[in-house]
Amino acid sequence: MNYKIAVLPGDGIGPEVVREGTQLLSRAAALYGFQVEFAEALVGGASIDAHGKPLTDPVLKLAKQSDAVLLGAMGGPKWDGLDYSIRPERALLALRQELGLFANLRPVKLFSALASASTLRREVVEGTDLLVVRELTGGIYFGQPKGVTKLADGTERGVNTEVYTTPEIERIARVAFEAARKRRNKVISVDKANVLEATELWRKVVTRVHKENGYGDVALEHMLVDNCAMQLIRDPKQFDVIVTTNMFGDILSDEAAMLTGSIGMLPSASLGGKVGMYEPVHGSAPDITGKDMANPLATILTVALMLRHSLDQGKAADRIEKAVQEVLDEGYRTADIQEKGCRLIGCREMGKRVREKIG
Ligand SMILES: NC(=O)c1ccc[n+]([C@@H]2O[C@H](COP(=O)([O-])OP(=O)(O)OC[C@H]3O[C@@H](n4cnc5c(N)ncnc54)[C@H](O)[C@@H]3O)[C@@H](O)[C@H]2O)c1
Repeated sequence: MNYKIAVLPGDGIGPEVVREGTQLLSRAAALYGFQVEFAEALVGGASIDAHGKPLTDPVLKLAKQSDAVLLGAMGGPKWDGLDYSIRPERALLALRQELGLFANLRPVKLFSALASASTLRREVVEGTDLLVVRELTGGIYFGQPKGVTKLADGTERGVNTEVYTTPEIERIARVAFEAARKRRNKVISVDKANVLEATELWRKVVTRVHKENGYGDVALEHMLVDNCAMQLIRDPKQFDVIVTTNMFGDILSDEAAMLTGSIGMLPSASLGGKVGMYEPVHGSAPDITGKDMANPLATILTVALMLRHSLDQGKAADRIEKAVQEVLDEGYRTADIQEKGCRLIGCREMGKRVREKIG
């Protein structure tokens, strides 16, 4: 197989971490018998500087014609003063929309070597390995009517609307069940069905998809969002796949991410259309840009997600995740996860050590 990867490094530490990601992909391709072809382009602030806008048509076309998109990070103080409509982050929203990416996958895995980086006790977080599947293009962030209106008495009224249709729920439920099959076969669907009618429908449709689409091998449970927020802190190990709405997913995925204590370790994937988009959760980290201090492991784990979900190379993905574990177990750390007694290394060396581990 020959896969075309659109590489959009973006701004700040984006190019530094993405370089480690592409080098790892090339190594994995050589080892596992497939080919990758990279096409690199400007996006975000770098694209504003060169073309006056954060995402140009040729770059969008490139993304659409690829098998997967690898994104670094966008934004930084240089572009903070620009109008919201042409800010670097607009490129991210435009890519999501144009590529039809309705499912955001955020795995949260605690590497035991890093358990002390969490604010929770080791015995609570150790063994945490969950995946939040967040609906990305519907719900209260997009529902109509929305806005703030003036009332006759001079006060104001703010409105947002939680809206979900059957097809929107069906497709995200399928993503969650399929993802669970590649993991530990358990889905917890999170809603507020006791209060919100839109999520009562959510629960009904998820239950039906589970029953009628042959997902009997996957265990399904339902949980109210307030309980889920508590359970994530009380006993995160009970979760395998969490599937939920746009807003609940936004909040719960950040809560779950903090179980690991380090933003430099968190990968993400956005799926739905023909092309998947893969990016580390962190931003462009202007404070450490160009200093070889960035942690490339979020991007390296993002590459593993790409291999698993877009390139059908699950074995290579497993090997990369294991290599990360091994390098951490050997005591190598970038500055953001540095601990006493560990060996401090830079972005390049961390990337190189993971590459060497996979063979
Ligand atoms: N998806 C994206 O492209 C994305 C996401 C978040 C923020 N941003 C943008 O990034 C810029 C900076 O935002 P911010 O400072 O709020 O968030 P940030 O994630 O860039 O940085 C927060 C802190 O975490 C550290 N950090 C982040 N990633 C790291 C890594 N890989 N290794 C080591 N340390 C790391 C940074 O040094 C900083 O101290 C802003 O312009 C923001 O809009 C972009």
